[in-house]
Amino acid sequence: MRIDVLNGVNLDLLGRRDPAQYGDGSLQDLETQVYAWARELGLQVRCRQTNHEGEYVEFLHAALDNADALVLNPGAWSHYSWAIHDALEPFSGPVVEVHLSDVDGRETWRRASVLEGLTTERIIGGGINGYRRALAVLAERRDA
Ligand code: DQA
Repeated sequence: MRIDVLNGVNLDLLGRRDPAQYGDGSLQDLETQVYAWARELGLQVRCRQTNHEGEYVEFLHAALDNADALVLNPGAWSHYSWAIHDALEPFSGPVVEVHLSDVDGRETWRRASVLEGLTTERIIGGGINGYRRALAVLAERRDA
């Protein structure tokens, strides 16, 4: 199972932004962990990050041909980017939405997600372990 793990805007600042919400690990730490967890679970993972919404849309277009499943944390775009919603819509495989922080327990505007209705599962507030849980969910589906 080929999985694209797509992190969006400002996630490159992990470790330097609000550690109470996002922890103190860097994006590189996160991706290193994701690759290690994927190896343990026998999953083929590719991690990508961008601060450019159009590039994130292109990651989603590329996934139509190159990925069987997605783990998505679009950052703040999650709350308002209908372009990302529309780009995801044609993807037919399982999609897990992950947020490091508890977006439902913070500002009201963070509760909305443009991914709603397009995801298999939503994992919030678990820090980087949320990505491990997302990979485990996908491995369980593969093995079902
Ligand atoms: C985030 C939550 C978003 O509200 C925020 O804009 C982010 C990170 C998270 O992982 O908790 O950039 O997606």
